[in-house]
Amino acid sequence: MEKMRVGIIGGGLMGREAASAFGRWFVLEDFPVQAELVAVCDLQDKLLDWFRRVPTVRLFTKDHQELLRSPDVDVVYVAVPHNLHEKMYLDVLAAGKDLLAEKPFGIDLKAARAIRDASTKSGRFVRCSSEFPFLPPAQRVVQAVQSGKLGRIMEIRSGFWHASDLDPSKPVNWKRQVKTCGEIGVMGDLGMHAVHVPFRLGWKPLRVYAQLQKIYTQRPDGKGGMAACDTWDNAMLHTEVKVGGDEVPMRLEMKRLAPGETNTWFIEVLGTEGGVRFSTKEPKTLWVFERAKEQIWQRIDLGHQMAFTTITGGIFEAGFPDCFLQMWAAYAAERAGKLGHRFGCVTPDEAVLSHELFAAALQSQSKRTAVAL
Ligand SMILES: NC(=O)c1ccc[n+]([C@@H]2O[C@H](COP(=O)([O-])OP(=O)(O)OC[C@H]3O[C@@H](n4cnc5c(N)ncnc54)[C@H](O)[C@@H]3O)[C@@H](O)[C@H]2O)c1
Repeated sequence: MEKMRVGIIGGGLMGREAASAFGRWFVLEDFPVQAELVAVCDLQDKLLDWFRRVPTVRLFTKDHQELLRSPDVDVVYVAVPHNLHEKMYLDVLAAGKDLLAEKPFGIDLKAARAIRDASTKSGRFVRCSSEFPFLPPAQRVVQAVQSGKLGRIMEIRSGFWHASDLDPSKPVNWKRQVKTCGEIGVMGDLGMHAVHVPFRLGWKPLRVYAQLQKIYTQRPDGKGGMAACDTWDNAMLHTEVKVGGDEVPMRLEMKRLAPGETNTWFIEVLGTEGGVRFSTKEPKTLWVFERAKEQIWQRIDLGHQMAFTTITGGIFEAGFPDCFLQMWAAYAAERAGKLGHRFGCVTPDEAVLSHELFAAALQSQSKRTAVAL
């Protein structure tokens, strides 16, 4: 069986989530690639120590170049603050390694284009992270649209909401400051999650009218004082896309302050004949609309119907670690030329398109007008 030996740069929240996916890789059934986490790089001793509980990790370092020099590493997952994306991703490619990049794929449009161009030139296999579309109800939304049975598409809504920033005593971190998160703020944090499915379905915004909000402009700095928070907190992007010759409204929502929404990813597509709706708020529920003699919204309970089958029972509900494992399985399968007709990870071109949208949204906000893409 083909082996995929992975190194992680950035062992924080997402680096450890990736370690968890590799740790239970064996649940994938009849999977053509065996993944193994072999190296980790982080600046913090306590995080390097955490990775010592992963028996396959042989290299622990604070120097990402040392990890990149290791001949044992085939693929690098980089999960670091956004201001470090461009340099680290280019270093990975220069070292001749494949890359699963974290979103937003560079701090801004210029960085994203530089990374995309370097990845094309290098010929390495590069994809970007976005895991929620791998949940079973999200895949059913994709299939419903591709079936053509929804009739004429009238409206699309896709988004990702968080709530914890409603608490003004939540301390500042790198995701709340332009110098480390980027001027695009919440769009860089949550935007890729909202655009992955629409872009893959071919829905590319023609123009955007953006409503961006800064709600809390300072937060506790964790040292007894206050620190400036200068990123956008909430973003509503009103766009139009071409679907079958018609211009259709598509609203993309990214919010750090959405009351009561802990980590809510959702998508809704409404057509003249049918509709589909899924939100992680009801994690196993797919809503399906049918225009028959009477108009009916029906709910279907979905279990573990994954694109890459696992040993988990079909009636058991899927959660965040499951879709993250599926995303990595899609990366490994596509890299090995074995994705087939299944849904794949965000491509470098899609990542650049997301940055084109976010850059246009910044312009729209400053001019208070719709901006063409
Ligand atoms: N896919 C998702 O659902 C998801 C969720 C959260 C964050 N993210 C993305 O993942 C990335 C990381 O976010 P996070 O929440 O894991 O952040 P985090 O702050 O928890 O972790 C970042 C880690 O990078 C390390 N680091 C910083 N500089 C480094 C360097 N020079 N060399 C090595 N390590 C270094 C830090 O010590 C830290 O442990 C970001 O791009 C973020 O947007 C993705």
